[in-house]
Amino acid sequence: DWKMDSFVTESIAQIKEKVGDGKVLCALSGGVDSSVAAVMLSKAIGNQLTCVFVDHGLLRKNEGDEVEEVFGPEGHYDLNFIRVNAQERFYGKLAGVTEPEQKRKIIGEEFIRVFEEEAKKIGTVDFLVQGTIYPDVVESGLGGESEVIKSHHNVGGLPDYVDFKEIIEPLRDLFKDEVRKAGLELGIPENLVYRQPFPGPGLGIRIIGEVNADRVKIVQDADAIYREEVAKAGVADELGQYFAALTNMQSVGVMGDERTYDYAVALRAVNTVDFMTAEASEIPWDVLHKVTSRIINEVDHVNRVLYDLTSKPPGTIEFE
Ligand code: XMP
Repeated sequence: DWKMDSFVTESIAQIKEKVGDGKVLCALSGGVDSSVAAVMLSKAIGNQLTCVFVDHGLLRKNEGDEVEEVFGPEGHYDLNFIRVNAQERFYGKLAGVTEPEQKRKIIGEEFIRVFEEEAKKIGTVDFLVQGTIYPDVVESGLGGESEVIKSHHNVGGLPDYVDFKEIIEPLRDLFKDEVRKAGLELGIPENLVYRQPFPGPGLGIRIIGEVNADRVKIVQDADAIYREEVAKAGVADELGQYFAALTNMQSVGVMGDERTYDYAVALRAVNTVDFMTAEASEIPWDVLHKVTSRIINEVDHVNRVLYDLTSKPPGTIEFE
């Protein structure tokens, strides 16, 4: 794609000129946007860039290690990579909290605090990188084209808390599909580039009720099985977003001769153009059967699997 090729080349040149020999800090989430922004910066200024990756313990199974493999010291890029293992800290703050907005708030605030502490260790930086893309600009009301729809905790939240001179937002004019093209152009692995969207508060809003390590493990394991079977069946490309969630419901079941009283996992899959409206996907029945029986057999403390058929609206895509 020659247009994207020249966008990438020009952006890199502009970043180089703007940054000079300055220090740059980037909050890396492992999502598409921050990954593409980080790689672009790395190509432009190498290890003048420091990426801080906060593992809040609410990522999908193995996701933290996957991010580290790509961006860490054994990975593909020239940059300073700091992984903060803050799992316990987040679980501590979330203990006993069940109200969805409060959970979101705690996760968002704690994220900023952890990031701020790491930034202080680095000292003064000249620039802060944000993976803001065009729809974020519009949704935050900054583009003037729409009302504030939702204040994503990862848009517009960080700058107040970190000492820096200027923000760099290399993807500010791009739509999602263009960000992916830029990512491919930059040589980022396809599995990362085509990653489905994942909310900032992570599994915290896919676990109804209290979040703790045991519950995170249940939803991680169920979700990993779901993703594996969807990939095997070759239907992933037809789905906009799909994931497992842990309901707060326990119900009676039978396993062998034993009565069980365990959790229900909900499977969600939606087709959507813009994530503002969505329809439940028609995942082939045999795939749902396979996923269900594997989850029941392989994931402890789950004895029931439900498929969510709710459209958005009135439902949301996430559970909280
Ligand atoms: P809902 O649940 O509102 O989700 O229908 C719409 C889309 O937004 C994602 N989402 C978030 N993304 N921070 C994010 O970065 C958040 O707090 C957040 N909440 C929801 C969700 O995954 C879906 O793609």
